[in-house]
Amino acid sequence: MSSLSLPGGTWKLGDLTVPRFGYGAMQLAGPWVMGPPADHAGALAVLREAVELGITHIDTADAYGPRFTNEIIREALHPYPESLHIATKVGAVRDEQGGWPPARRPDQLRRAVEENLQVLGLETLDLVNLRLGNAEGPQPESLAEAFETLVDLQRQGLIRHLGVSNATPEQVAEAQSIAPIVSVQNMYNLAHRHDDELIDRLAAENIAYVPFFPLGGFSPLQSDALENVAARLQSTPMAVALAWLLQRSPNILLIPGTSSVAHLRENIAGAGITLSGKDVAELDQIGR
Ligand SMILES: NC(=O)c1ccc[n+]([C@@H]2O[C@H](COP(=O)([O-])OP(=O)(O)OC[C@H]3O[C@@H](n4cnc5c(N)ncnc54)[C@H](OP(=O)(O)O)[C@@H]3O)[C@@H](O)[C@H]2O)c1
Repeated sequence: MSSLSLPGGTWKLGDLTVPRFGYGAMQLAGPWVMGPPADHAGALAVLREAVELGITHIDTADAYGPRFTNEIIREALHPYPESLHIATKVGAVRDEQGGWPPARRPDQLRRAVEENLQVLGLETLDLVNLRLGNAEGPQPESLAEAFETLVDLQRQGLIRHLGVSNATPEQVAEAQSIAPIVSVQNMYNLAHRHDDELIDRLAAENIAYVPFFPLGGFSPLQSDALENVAARLQSTPMAVALAWLLQRSPNILLIPGTSSVAHLRENIAGAGITLSGKDVAELDQIGR
């Protein structure tokens, strides 16, 4: 085990304890999340380093690649350590143009769960998020039929815990009226704070909020305020953005993506920095 320690402590996803600092595997697929990794050996190295550094929460989806990200996770880490929990998503597939069309009919969801199980080499998926909406963001529509399908698969023992992704607060509540969820995975970062109220509500209910694009995703966060705070703290903008999320609420779990061992180590080393009230006040202006 390396001398780096994971910042943020731990969280319980249902009965599964995970460090709040996890890893998002989407960036391991090819450009625009299509095709195999540009650097196969590098992708294996990042995953193995993540686990070596103590990360036990890895976020993925069969749609990444498609299949390639799940294949590389299996190649890098199978047989998995007992402590490792892989969260996946179903509800969208890929088209030939690289789009993400919804696939939330019961037969599509069953197939997606089976494919995740098969490619990852698992008998049960620890956490499955139902991905809602589309590439533009959450859309107001009922999730009942799709979510009930996943509940059925959970009863059959194929899924341990359920969550929702790209969801409106109303859809989160609708899911909760059908079955317990352990996480909500939505877009959120210093510059996109639409879910502030939802995060606080989920925190009160002990449900994890897992921001996707914590560093801005395909358009990395850029802001003078972020640069200034990072310079003052002799840190990096990315580390400060992650530290801000860790300090924002105890139910926030990080899954920053990277295809670089150096960035992975840099993010872990930097995200433990303590932000003062003044730092947070300056950073809070970015999303307002
Ligand atoms: N539920 C959903 O609909 C949904 C949608 C999107 C993503 N996700 C999940 O969320 C995870 C995180 O999102 P994301 O990976 O797209 O975006 P992200 O974590 O916001 O940003 C990743 C980008 O930041 C760069 N980066 C990371 N550390 C850096 C550093 N120290 N210095 C400079 N650049 C750095 C990476 O480039 P390098 O590779 O060069 O480090 C990569 O381009 C994904 O992996 C995926 O699991 C879910």
